[in-house]
Amino acid sequence: MSQFDEILDQHDFTKDELITLLASKGEEMSRLFDKALKTKLHYLDNCVHLRGLIEYSNKCRKYCLYCGVRGKNTKVERYTLSDEEVLECAHLAHKLGYGSVAIQSGERDDKEFVDKIEYLVREIKKIDNGSLGITLSLGEQTEETYRRWFEAGAHRYLLRIEASNEDLYYKIHPKDKNHDFHKRLDSIDTLLRLGYQTGTGVMVGLPFQTLDDLADDLLFFKRKDVAMVGMGPFIPHPDTPLYEFRHQIPSAQERMNLTLKMIAVLRLMMPEINMVAATANQTVDPLGREKAIMVGANVIMPNLTPNEFRENYLIYPDKACVKDKPDQCQTCLDIRMESIGHKVLYNAWGDSKAFTSRH
Ligand code: 5AD
Ligand code: FES
Repeated sequence: MSQFDEILDQHDFTKDELITLLASKGEEMSRLFDKALKTKLHYLDNCVHLRGLIEYSNKCRKYCLYCGVRGKNTKVERYTLSDEEVLECAHLAHKLGYGSVAIQSGERDDKEFVDKIEYLVREIKKIDNGSLGITLSLGEQTEETYRRWFEAGAHRYLLRIEASNEDLYYKIHPKDKNHDFHKRLDSIDTLLRLGYQTGTGVMVGLPFQTLDDLADDLLFFKRKDVAMVGMGPFIPHPDTPLYEFRHQIPSAQERMNLTLKMIAVLRLMMPEINMVAATANQTVDPLGREKAIMVGANVIMPNLTPNEFRENYLIYPDKACVKDKPDQCQTCLDIRMESIGHKVLYNAWGDSKAFTSRH
């Protein structure tokens, strides 16, 4: 057996072994992908879970250096969905059999926002007696806020660490009181402690990011024992400061492959977690989401945001599906998943098996 295959045969990897796996190319990379797919099918079958994505608002108090809706981008028209619009999205998710919704938004922490989210979570929970699962992705909040939203009925929360290396974190976020690496870490710990199915993740192919950093990111996910992970390729946005470094990052193809390798290796390390095939994958490669599913991802987040707002939620340019209607996405996803031997699981929350088998 080659040294590479010996490494592949394990579930726990040293940092050096992770770097070897992440550096793989050609035949070796294909063997990694095969092993990851087999592992996923063994633990989780060929089911793909859906989360109907509701992009609630693009108003944001943060200035992340990569993000197209960062507070300082004056080119973006700011919006917040009305209560009716949010609830219509949720009803549509229910009608389409999506099982769960994910509410994502620019970050705010004022009382009006916190109260509003609590209200919306409670209202969504009323639909068909709580039949919809609710994931929130609303940034860093106080413990009290997280607790209130949890008690209102949200049971999953996504907060990507974005970069688990503190130095890299501050190369992609300004260093000020609004962007504090330790606050972010504390927020993830709080979510875990409160009992949320907690998800985190990173962007792949960032300027200044090394394989060493990515290996540390994987070890971070494992150490935190999170229930869900989202990873997608970094896509430079022209209206953000990091755009200046667009020539210092790997090509789109390389960022895609590196993302796939991250997903595949993590599937070997954490066989039962939920992993999303991020929409950003589809932006760099028309078959990007299918490829992510074929190397270990098991969740897709079709967009339910009313079309007239989607153009204003471009965290990165050329986002996929911006012009598609929700029912088009549903049919499209069914066909796409079937074409790769997978099936969309309807009318189920699709909880992380890593989480449910422990609780
Ligand atoms: N390219 C790729 N992903 C991005 N995100 C934000 N900006 C970009 C970008 N330019 C990701 C971040 C964030 C998630 C909602 O989208 O990881 O957590
Ligand atoms: Fe939107 Fe395919 S998921 S058109």
